Amino acid sequence: MVAEQFLKELPKCEHHLHLEGTLEPDLLFPLAKRNNVKLPDTFPQSVEELNKKYTQFKDLQDFLDYYYIGTNVLITEQDFFDLAWAYFTKVSKQGLVHAEVFYDPQSHTCRGISIETVTKGFKRACERAEREYGITSKLIICLLRHLEPKDCLTTIEEAKPFIQDGTISGMGLDSAERPFPPNLFIECYDKAAKLNANLKLTAHAGEEGPAQFVTDALDLLNVTRIDHGINSAQDDELLKRLAQEQILLTVCPLSNVKLQVVKSVSELPLQKFLDNNVPFSINSDDPSYFGGYILDNYLQVAKEFPQWDYNVWIKIAKNAINGSWCADKRKDEL
Ligand code: HPA
Ligand code: ZN
Repeated sequence: MVAEQFLKELPKCEHHLHLEGTLEPDLLFPLAKRNNVKLPDTFPQSVEELNKKYTQFKDLQDFLDYYYIGTNVLITEQDFFDLAWAYFTKVSKQGLVHAEVFYDPQSHTCRGISIETVTKGFKRACERAEREYGITSKLIICLLRHLEPKDCLTTIEEAKPFIQDGTISGMGLDSAERPFPPNLFIECYDKAAKLNANLKLTAHAGEEGPAQFVTDALDLLNVTRIDHGINSAQDDELLKRLAQEQILLTVCPLSNVKLQVVKSVSELPLQKFLDNNVPFSINSDDPSYFGGYILDNYLQVAKEFPQWDYNVWIKIAKNAINGSWCADKRKDEL
């Protein structure tokens, strides 16, 4: 296995990180108190109890049930700033140089918190992270696929000023995958793309869902990146296409284990992706829930793919830079 210090210093880009998924129990409870938010009686009532729950989830839905309760403690612009700032501070010590981060506006607007409040708080943290840590970033909104597509259209309308002025760089699709396939969101993606030709598009696909959802996201939603995408490995034609079009898969190893998508990181088809020239990046998804930030994910992969030498890791780092949505000038710096 390559040296830990090498992986720490390797310039890393994160493309799959839900800001709400960085809410650590030791921030969740103080925010609940600060904002007078009563957590459900069935929710763990202490940091210790909550950490215990986070050791394993049954599946994606089991995790999402906790994740959406957690988001309820976020109310003010300062809360959103504090959340994102805590994330940037942690990863500034892990060799992160560029982050393209998700948030779920609907999990806040449904509670009467405006998209403006959320976006301004996150944006302020991004700007400070660039100034103080040299970490560049992009904001990506995600549509919640378990909600009605017409609700998603409303969200896109509310996000319009930020999409048009470039504050929001991209749009994705998350939440429960299997019951809500990509074809439900064609109109949403069309609408968003028309608001700003520079808006980047991605979608969670092939995490719990089949390879067909990956193909559908590419064909029907015109995405240029796939979040997770690990089930693409079951379709050789799709692998060829991903390689040919250099579609980046944003893989999340510790997440896949915690949500029981795979039993261990070694089961992930990462060698197959490399052999087929399919680019992927390594990401943390919801680090507070899944037991590790970006470097922890790199280290676990290195441990379970000990045959990979420095050249393989340099290739992975380069693929992550090339697949980023930052300007070419920034890519050259990275
Ligand atoms: N999958 C789907 N939805 C999500 C995830 C995920 O891993 N994290 C936060 N929302
Ligand atoms: Zn995700």
